[in-house]
Amino acid sequence: MQININNLSFAYGTKTIITNLSLSLNSGDYLVVRGKNGSGKSTFIKCLLGFNQVKSGMIFFDKVDITEFKSWTKFGYVSQNFDDFNYEFPLTVGELLQISSLKKTDESTRLKLLEKMGIFDIINQNINSLSGGQLQRVFIVRAMLNNPEVLILDEPTASIDKQNKEFFYDTVEELHQLGITIVLITHTDDIERLNYTHLLSMYGDLTTTFEERGVEISGGVL
Ligand SMILES: Nc1ncnc2c1ncn2[C@@H]1O[C@H](COP(=O)(O)OP(=O)(O)OP(=O)(O)O)[C@@H](O)[C@H]1O
Ligand SMILES: [Mg+2]
Repeated sequence: MQININNLSFAYGTKTIITNLSLSLNSGDYLVVRGKNGSGKSTFIKCLLGFNQVKSGMIFFDKVDITEFKSWTKFGYVSQNFDDFNYEFPLTVGELLQISSLKKTDESTRLKLLEKMGIFDIINQNINSLSGGQLQRVFIVRAMLNNPEVLILDEPTASIDKQNKEFFYDTVEELHQLGITIVLITHTDDIERLNYTHLLSMYGDLTTTFEERGVEISGGVL
């Protein structure tokens, strides 16, 4: 798996958020995207996932232009905003996972993932009664059900306590060790704690830098 981004630019209407952003990632890489609130991190991810439409020639997955890309199940995504998440009818965690999988998964796979994420005990709990941190983990399990090659985690701003944050980072680490390519978005200063291989910094003034850990690849765009 290879992701190539060439001079990505994106605007909401006349409001430019990203200009001339270039980077490459390979299987097994671990990219941290950092930047303060409003610097364009989620916008960048939505471009990568095709939610924000970009022009052809800017983003390629395995040499296929994103505008032609079809294999979206290669991607697992946990979005940033689920503070207001609510199901209209009562559904347990187990039931939600059962109906959320694109591929056929057996129950033991689901149970193993729940155990790995430390939420095995809430399998019969109503999805609407979970805390933000629990819900985040349920969504990571859901994203993992399709065996994604790339897992994209837009870290929620909602206050996850310190202990849960540590647990979250450890889990990401474990998934990375399994060979999954990770893209983790954060606006905190926790990055020293993370074993990332690549770092994209978004400074909020349209400048960005992309570095391989220990090696500066390109800097000071614009
Ligand atoms: N759908 C949209 N339409 C118009 N402007 C938007 C839209 N989504 C985001 N923006 C604007 O684009 C800018 C970047 O927003 P984005 O959500 O990408 O920032 P972020 O780095 O993810 O911030 P945070 O750390 O708060 O999550 C902000 O000024 C935001 O107001
Ligand atoms: Mg964001």
